[in-house]
Amino acid sequence: MFDLSPYNTFGLKVKSKDGLIVNDVADLRRVHSENIIVLGQGSDVLFTDDFDGTVLINNIKSLNIDFVDGKYIVKVGGGVNFDQLIVSLIEKRIFGLENLSYIPGTVGASPVQNIGAYGIEIGDYIKEVTAYDLQRHIIQTFSKEECEFGYRTSYFKTHKSRRLFITSVTFELSSEFKPKLVYQGLKDENFVNAQELRDKVVELRRTKLPDPRLVGNAGSFFKNPIVSKEFAEKLKKEYETLPVYPYDENNCKLPAGYLIEHAGCKGITHGNVGTWEHQALVIVNRGNAKPHEVVALAKYIIAEVYRKFGVNLEPEVRTYGRTGEVSWDTL
Ligand code: EPU
Repeated sequence: MFDLSPYNTFGLKVKSKDGLIVNDVADLRRVHSENIIVLGQGSDVLFTDDFDGTVLINNIKSLNIDFVDGKYIVKVGGGVNFDQLIVSLIEKRIFGLENLSYIPGTVGASPVQNIGAYGIEIGDYIKEVTAYDLQRHIIQTFSKEECEFGYRTSYFKTHKSRRLFITSVTFELSSEFKPKLVYQGLKDENFVNAQELRDKVVELRRTKLPDPRLVGNAGSFFKNPIVSKEFAEKLKKEYETLPVYPYDENNCKLPAGYLIEHAGCKGITHGNVGTWEHQALVIVNRGNAKPHEVVALAKYIIAEVYRKFGVNLEPEVRTYGRTGEVSWDTL
């Protein structure tokens, strides 16, 4: 048995049949199990049960930096800690990822759900992703287009039947600091250097989001829902303070945190789980939480938000059960 407690930031006491720390591609050639889950630091997963298979922990730590045609091409091993990468890039005066500071997890996990925060998404900075195909035992490189990035999604999340292990991610970054300040809380700031921007983002995250080293959680539990423009306008008439963000020509994005708060679910506690007092979108482990308690609270929140707003929330975290990834509707 392999203890998964250190590999899920929810801090749930779950186990898998086997586990392997993968330090390089050679380790992957020896993997022949059929039932596999790949994890980095487990900062975006919910285990609903023990897992009856092998968990591979991405611990590939390589870093390769080139300067080509005025751009930095940075190829990073999938097991590198994402925030430590940002710290070392700023030290080397390589810019672009500062807004994503302090996000827990590994570089290999970052393209899977196309992590985003404070006005940027990682997909915009990715040149290519290299993955090891665990069924065919070959290495495949995906161009940015082949990664099919969308809001909190990518090819790696939607093609569930393909067992891919992301060995490295190649970023295209800048030698000049050009801050992106579209996020409301950053707009009016004047950052003279990347470290200042990073410090501000770290401060924002610290005030709104629980530190998973202290309080078990997996960041935003739900995605911000996409609804039609007409529906958003109708809701806005009723709830004047509701923020509505543009998404595409016909649709808008609504902040799930607002909906959850106004459905009366911010800061609540059900048994050993609850929602964070400063950001209702985050489900937290209040100590000794059991997987079924997280599922029950999430279902309660979905029902309450639907009852109040007629909006269906969908989980953003990936959910795994005894046999592998499970779809939320089957729980
Ligand atoms: N809001 C509330 N109540 C709450 C939480 C939020 O009314 O309890 C309102 C805020 O006042 C604000 C709006 O909702 O007007 C948006 O809130 P915020 O800026 O905190 O961002 P978010 O939409 O709730 C998203 C990402 C976060 C990311 C932040 C900042 C998703 C699912 N979440 O949250 O990502 O850090 O923007 O860019 O898109 C994550 O994915 O794990 C994550 C933390």
